[in-house]
This record gives sequence, structure tokens and C-alpha cells, in this order.
Amino acid sequence: MSSNNEVAVECRGVYKEFQDGSRVIRVLRGTDLTVRKGEFVAIVGASGSGKTTLLNLIGGLDRPTSGTILVDGLDITQLDDDEMSEMRRHKIGILFQDQHLLPIFTALENVQVPMLLDEVRRKQREARAMELLKAVGVDHRAHHMPHELSGGMRSRVALARAMANNPTVLLCDEPTGDLDHKIGGEIIRLMKDLAKKDRRAVIVVTHDPEVARMADRILLLRDGVLVEELVTDFFRPSGIDVSASRDSDGDAGSAVEG
Ligand SMILES: Nc1ncnc2c1ncn2[C@@H]1O[C@H](COP(=O)(O)OP(=O)(O)OP(=O)(O)O)[C@@H](O)[C@H]1O
Ligand SMILES: [Mg+2]
Repeated sequence: MSSNNEVAVECRGVYKEFQDGSRVIRVLRGTDLTVRKGEFVAIVGASGSGKTTLLNLIGGLDRPTSGTILVDGLDITQLDDDEMSEMRRHKIGILFQDQHLLPIFTALENVQVPMLLDEVRRKQREARAMELLKAVGVDHRAHHMPHELSGGMRSRVALARAMANNPTVLLCDEPTGDLDHKIGGEIIRLMKDLAKKDRRAVIVVTHDPEVARMADRILLLRDGVLVEELVTDFFRPSGIDVSASRDSDGDAGSAVEG
């Protein structure tokens, strides 16, 4: 349970509603989730089922309507905004598709960005950034600008940046979406290896069965709750098609009430 320091993330009865004009969109409806350090979990589910919403809550980018979320044993729902930023900076690494590298900085400088707020000394910061670039296999491109790197290299730099503050939890929202299959798989494998080595918890939201198959566990978000999905079920032709687009009411898996 939460007192166990092997647990990185624990969600208990998490509800999240959004107000959309006069309608209430009930996205998460009592979601439970436990992810241990060193564990690599894939979350799948139809478009609009609430996957990004859940990652945002765990990452402290948004707050649940009710329920408890513990990150490294700390109940983040009790934190004020300053404490939440602090928690995010120290415990959370984020690799989201829309988080691009800063174009005017080199790879080495980009990796140092999360360390700037913590007043880490420059020499130390650079050394750590170089070490991370080496871990992801792009140290030979440390002084290149993002536009001088391939898509795969840029993803690796973004991964190094996400790990700059030695986070307990690494959150990835479809990190392979805009990359070709092979590069995507490489990044995920790298992420998994690094997570195991450094005992980080990795939560990857994906539409890609190949990515999901690499995970220790696959969890399906449906009707506002997470259910454990067997890999075999996931690949059954008649199984859940996670690549399905929004259904006719545009809100797969979420109830809308007036
Ligand atoms: N800030 C918000 N305000 C209002 N509604 C929101 C907000 N964020 C998300 N929603 C709604 O919550 C539902 C879940 O959205 P979410 O982005 O979490 O889905 P998802 O599973 O990540 O989908 P996809 O696979 O398409 O990325 C959707 O109906 C969405 O419109
Ligand atoms: Mg999403």
C-alpha cells in the first residue's frame, strides 16, 4: 500500500469531471491504479476515454474532482499550487508529444532546462546532461541544434530531458505517435531499460499494440475505470480496437449528463 516505498503511484477512487457549458462530462469514475518503482505500465483505451486526463492528474498538471493520488508516498491532492510545482519538478518526468525541444538551444542545453530552476551549478548541470545524452545514445550530437538532428535523435534528447531531474515517475503520452514504427520501438525499449535500471515508474499511454506489448502490464481505461487487460486479449482480432476513433457521440467511454 501507500506506506510501501516501492510504490511510485497510487490512485484511489479518482473522479474527474469537466463542465462543458451546462453539461457535466464525467471522465474518470472511481479509477484505481498502483504502479511500483521499476514498473512499466501501458494504458490503452478509446479516444476520449480519459487517458491524457489521468496522466495530467498524476503529473500534477490538473486536480481530480475527488479521490486520492499518491506520488512516491505523498498525497498530491493536499498540495497547494507552489508545493505542486515543486512536486512536479522533483518527482515527475514528462514526455508528451506536444513538448518539443527549444529550437534555439543545443541538445545539451535542452537537457539542462529542467535543472535551471533548481540552481544546480553550471558544471554539474552540464555533466549530468552529458551523462543523460550518453545514456540515450546521442552524446555525439550534444552540441547540435534540434533541426540538425533526426526525428529519432530528437526523441532521445526529449527523453534525456524528461529524466534530467531524476524523476520517480516518467509519464509518456503517445511518445511514438509521430515517429516511424522502428524508431518508436527503440525509444520505448530505451525508456523501459532506463526505468528498470534507475527504478523509475513508467506510464505510457499508447495506441500502438507493439508498444503495449513491451509493457509489464496493460491497463484498459473504459467507462472511467482501469481494468487489467491480458496481452492475449489485447491482440485478439475481436478484442478492443484501441486505435478506434471517437464514436458517434464523440465521447467514447465517458458519460455526458445535462
Ligand atoms: N479541460 C477540459 N475541459 C473540458 N473537457 C475536457 C477537458 N479535457 C478533456 N476533456 C474531455 O474529457 C474527455 C477525455 O479526454 P482525454 O483527452 O483525457 O481523452 P484521451 O483518452 O486522452 O483521448 P485521445 O486518445 O484522443 O488522446 C473527452 O471527452 C474530452 O473532451
Ligand atoms: Mg490523449
